[in-house]
Amino acid sequence: MSLLSVKGLKTNYGPVNVLAGIDFEVAAGETYALVGESGSGKTTVIRAIAGLAPAQEGSVLFDGQEIRGLPERALRPLRKDIAMMFQDPVGSLSPRLTIGSLITEPYRIQGMRDRDLDAEAKRLLEMVNLPAHFASRYPYQLSGGQARRVGVARALALEPKLILADEPTAGLDVSVQGELLNLLNDLRERLGLAMVIITHNLNVVRHVADRMGIMYLGRLVEEGTTEEIFHKSRHPYTRCLLSANPEPDPDARLERIALKGEPPSLIRRPKGCEFRERCPMAQEICTQTPQWDIQKGHGIRCLAPLS
Ligand SMILES: Nc1ncnc2c1ncn2[C@@H]1O[C@H](COP(=O)(O)OP(=O)(O)OP(=O)(O)O)[C@@H](O)[C@H]1O
Ligand code: SF4
Ligand SMILES: [Mg+2]
Repeated sequence: MSLLSVKGLKTNYGPVNVLAGIDFEVAAGETYALVGESGSGKTTVIRAIAGLAPAQEGSVLFDGQEIRGLPERALRPLRKDIAMMFQDPVGSLSPRLTIGSLITEPYRIQGMRDRDLDAEAKRLLEMVNLPAHFASRYPYQLSGGQARRVGVARALALEPKLILADEPTAGLDVSVQGELLNLLNDLRERLGLAMVIITHNLNVVRHVADRMGIMYLGRLVEEGTTEEIFHKSRHPYTRCLLSANPEPDPDARLERIALKGEPPSLIRRPKGCEFRERCPMAQEICTQTPQWDIQKGHGIRCLAPLS
């Protein structure tokens, strides 16, 4: 059974149809990446899973339990098992609290008063390779990479089963990104964490994800193992995204396709294939609506897939 199973998830903000039915599953210990252009709905997906964005339709099963639409009171115990990691994990928190208080705040929120918070702060800092004396520092004293590690420590405090990470490496220097990814990979192996990770950086995806889903206008248009998507993607949109990313192996290079124009409005979605107006491979048949077709675990939504 999957740890997380999302089915037919839909989100509207008034007339704006942001998610038009999202389906994917994540197994225990697995890392699943969501990629897609800005505005494709990636953040909304993980916020809706965590109960932080509305989801008018669909199902979110966590460990077999339906969690979509649960009231905050019912969600609180689940906040132990599902941790969010935001792009700016420290900037979004109180600047007046020490790092030690910040990373142990989840215990206080959960009312776990019997914990020795100093000892926990030390343990968590050690886990993310930061020295114990950082516990008495303040957020403004941290570098970008250190702040991100503090974010990881805070996310790990309650020993979650699933981490939802939104652009965890954005804005960091390449070398610091690498360190953070190695840390996440290492923790995942040691603690058996599952992760849904959002990133614009395809090299990051390659480094951490077992499987990935490609989003366009609030729908998945392709899904498969990371290996398959990088080497055998068949959706023109996926190829456009991959084309923008330098492929180190010349034998694995796919034909380059440039992504043109801007995504259409979510208020009035295009008829037929929603990528049609921008698709370099569009044909007559693409005025029809492509359905999700899945073969050997590789899913695609396209009427004229590439070979
Ligand atoms: N609270 C809201 N009210 C209205 N529209 C919203 C709201 N939140 C998000 N949207 C819209 O939903 C769409 C998807 O937004 P979302 O933030 O999920 O995209 P994203 O894929 O995470 O983009 P980015 O890569 O830029 O972070 C956008 O068009 C956005 O304007
Ligand atoms: S269905 Fe047609 S327009 Fe849509 S992605 Fe496939 S080839 Fe392009
Ligand atoms: Mg986002």
